[in-house]
Amino acid sequence: MSHAEDHEGTRRDFLYYATAGTGAIATGAAVWPLVDQMNPSADVQALSSIRVDISGIEPGTQLTVKWLGKPVFIRRRTPEEIEEARAVNLAELPDGDARNANIDAGASAADENRSLDETGEWLVQMGVCTHLGCVPLGDAGDFGGWFCPCHGSHYDTSGRIRKGPAPENLPVPVAEFVDETTIKLG
Ligand code: FES
Repeated sequence: MSHAEDHEGTRRDFLYYATAGTGAIATGAAVWPLVDQMNPSADVQALSSIRVDISGIEPGTQLTVKWLGKPVFIRRRTPEEIEEARAVNLAELPDGDARNANIDAGASAADENRSLDETGEWLVQMGVCTHLGCVPLGDAGDFGGWFCPCHGSHYDTSGRIRKGPAPENLPVPVAEFVDETTIKLG
């Protein structure tokens, strides 16, 4: 994917523009307040659909944006993270459901059913622990994905629950690419 394109044409349409400088290093609760401060006004937050510029997200990092009052993790995964996510035996997963609002309900939790693009480079999911709603930390936990420190839930590199009290995988919200460097949520 090319990131050398001029984004001026799309930037003017952004309802919410999260810069790479702040967002790309965001990896969970520790930096969430930083992102929170740059949120637009309440009426903009209330819109059900936002566009996010992902051009500055480096492999192995994630951008956290606030959407409908909740954090959303947009992660650009490394080949290793993708490989790890796709090598998992689905029978080992506590929650076998994809939890992906973009595909049919009941689809399996295979990583291919959770990533936004076919290659698996992009993973978009709600940053809300399915136990009691804390914000999990990125690049953490026993499975190299996310870790919720509130009661110890471990999610893998596909955002699937692997260990701890959380009952379900992190939900994938309605999302799509509108161009090479822009993801629309909602
Ligand atoms: S809220 Fe995440 S483990 Fe309890």
